[in-house]
Amino acid sequence: MASGSLFLGAILLFSFSTMAFSDSLSPYFYHKVCPQALPTIRHIVFDAVRQERRMGASLLRLHFHDCFVNGCDASILLDSTSNIDSEKNALPNANSARGFEVIDRIKSAVDQACKRPVVSCADILAVAARDSVVALGGPSWEVQLGRRDSTTASKTAANNDIPSPFMDLPALINSFSKQGLNVKDLVALSGGHTLGFAQCRTFRNRIYNETNIDKGFAAQRQATCPRVGGDSNLAPLDPTPAYFDTKYFSNLVRKKGLLHSDQALFNGGQTDSLVKTYSGNIRVFAKDFAKSMVKMGNIKPLTGKNGQIRVNCRKVN
Ligand code: HEM
Ligand SMILES: *[C@@H]1O[C@H](CO)[C@@H](O)[C@H](O)[C@H]1NC(C)=O
Repeated sequence: MASGSLFLGAILLFSFSTMAFSDSLSPYFYHKVCPQALPTIRHIVFDAVRQERRMGASLLRLHFHDCFVNGCDASILLDSTSNIDSEKNALPNANSARGFEVIDRIKSAVDQACKRPVVSCADILAVAARDSVVALGGPSWEVQLGRRDSTTASKTAANNDIPSPFMDLPALINSFSKQGLNVKDLVALSGGHTLGFAQCRTFRNRIYNETNIDKGFAAQRQATCPRVGGDSNLAPLDPTPAYFDTKYFSNLVRKKGLLHSDQALFNGGQTDSLVKTYSGNIRVFAKDFAKSMVKMGNIKPLTGKNGQIRVNCRKVN
């Protein structure tokens, strides 16, 4: 009996000490060291979204493009130098990824509020993504924190690991599974396309050449995306690009997905049923989206003594 409880005590002690020093993330990481960190991030995100609703979409996408390239380590924020092959120049990001100035603004405000640089750029991306979704009417979730920032970037990895809008379902499933994300995560997270815009060059082939598309919708999109030229003309990814809702999914059911990769989720394959479920149930979509965002945010974080806390998100210290 006595030795049993001693054993139990030893286990408890062990698990508490590993909790305190473990390399895993925690929602409370900044509670003691800088209680102002999260309110400061939220304030600036809400302000940026009030000025331009699309910024919420752009900030959400930055976190995704960060996490899929060697983990959520703010590698996407590094500018080019002789040692850094900036991910900003990779195909999915060039003339497309945006919001870097808002991240800079958050970083300096947070460092000022904390009186020293203790909050990582990778955590700022994760919190800004959550706050953006909330600002546009989506669900909230507890963001896991304690990621550290990379000292490297890889344009090649960004080109290889960020999924392309021309992919079919098996390629999308494979791309997500390489990140430890399953088919449900793929569908739920693709629901991020309830927000924001895409450029003509990313959907031109779909609206002119594909057959699994609503004819009226294709004609409507062709009006602002010509066969030749207008590569950067924008179209909304769903009819309500500034509101987190289920229209992205209900549009897929009507063959009104904008990107080939969007419609691939509802094209007679294994993800059709989940798309249908989400299309009519914001509660289920919102809950699954939040859960998958936490999972995506946990991809290969740098913790403990790995990486660094950058002073300037664009540069290695
Ligand atoms: C499933 C694979 C995905 C593909 C192939 C894909 C592809 C794209 C493309 C091509 C664009 C338009 C970019 C442009 O024209 O400049 C875009 C925009 C966007 N993506 Fe994705 N995406 C995927 C998944 C995701 C995920 C997981 C999220 C977030 C959870 C996300 C969030 C967004 C947002 C919010 C925008 C609009 C950005 C803005 O307006 O600035 N995407 N995506
Ligand atoms: C349509 O498909 C053809 C054949 O693959 C291709 O040559 C053409 O560029 C496509 N048109 C558009 C507008 O993408």
